[in-house]
Amino acid sequence: MCMACWRGVARRDPCKAAMSSRISFFEVEILDCKTMRQLCFFDKVEPHLTVNDVKLMFHKCYPQWYPARQSIRLDPKGRSLKDEEILQDLPVGTTATLYFRDLGPQIGWTMVFLTEYAGPLFVYFLFYFRMPFFYGLAKAFTSSSHSVVHLACCCHSFHYIKRLIETIFVHRFSHGTMPLRSIVKNCFYYWGFAAWLAYYINHPLYTPPSYGKKQICLAMIMFLICETGNFSIHVALSNLRQDGLRSRRIPFPTRNPFTWLFFFVSCPNYTYEVGSWISFTVMTQCVPVGLFTLIGFIQMTIWAKEKHYRYLKEFKDYPRLRMSIIPFLL
Ligand SMILES: NC(=O)c1ccc[n+]([C@@H]2O[C@H](COP(=O)([O-])OP(=O)(O)OC[C@H]3O[C@@H](n4cnc5c(N)ncnc54)[C@H](OP(=O)(O)O)[C@@H]3O)[C@@H](O)[C@H]2O)c1
Repeated sequence: MCMACWRGVARRDPCKAAMSSRISFFEVEILDCKTMRQLCFFDKVEPHLTVNDVKLMFHKCYPQWYPARQSIRLDPKGRSLKDEEILQDLPVGTTATLYFRDLGPQIGWTMVFLTEYAGPLFVYFLFYFRMPFFYGLAKAFTSSSHSVVHLACCCHSFHYIKRLIETIFVHRFSHGTMPLRSIVKNCFYYWGFAAWLAYYINHPLYTPPSYGKKQICLAMIMFLICETGNFSIHVALSNLRQDGLRSRRIPFPTRNPFTWLFFFVSCPNYTYEVGSWISFTVMTQCVPVGLFTLIGFIQMTIWAKEKHYRYLKEFKDYPRLRMSIIPFLL
């Protein structure tokens, strides 16, 4: 620790400073989470090193396990330690036993958003332009006579372009990578559903919604409101990390009325996302769209509940009125 940092610690927390001056070095052993075999042992580890520093040291011994692939834990079944956690702050003695788990190959966010979000955009257009192999040669490159089909294409494209833009310019993710396993699963989900929805909406036999223009206009207004709401929440979440730290904080409503849903739910971005897909279902009146919405809703409810309970556990002063995803209900 440099002198200036040490003086800072000494001023803020004299006890900790006294302790760190007494404990000069740690011993760290890393065991395999599954087999409990010792993978490596480091002596003379400086107590102020972070988990990320330990990961870098471990990486030197095992070049195939780069830091983003490593999950380092205090308990084989416990949570992964955060990169920024400091060795001397962990509940361990001077001989720390840590457990390693391989998270599998990882890929960077650029690749994630290109494959996950650009995929559905591209797939949808194949059906919109009626490529010869989908609806037969006679209908190849023809265009639908229903205006709702064109509007649906605009809304679908808008949704995924917005997501791409948010991933590049708005989100401040806490992890730099995503497991390759997850991206393969997600691509099946997004690409597969995009193809299924697009096949029916752009089908030459597609029939427009029962209540015509009224239904389409109402759905479009709802869709735009929900997309704006979803974007506003993403901006609000991103602003929580303006200081560059990657920790989680309690999100609160801001001056933007779209964020006022934070008064009632923990994950309003999911609420708005579900709203967008309900609107798209009403607009197209298409069963596969309804199914995609339902599956998305179930998945987001599971995630929202997990996030909600994590907030309650992490923050004692967490607002009690909030539900997970649907105000006053769920
Ligand atoms: N249609 C579907 O089936 C479907 C399913 C899921 C998601 N989506 C869409 O994709 C969007 C993103 O999904 P997501 O699951 O990544 O949403 P999320 O978990 O709410 O995260 C969105 C961003 O906000 C950050 N964040 C979340 N809570 C935070 C907090 N308390 N403090 C600071 N930063 C925080 C996240 O960082 P971290 O890296 O720390 O998480 C991430 O960068 C959703 O809002 C939704 O529009 C669609």
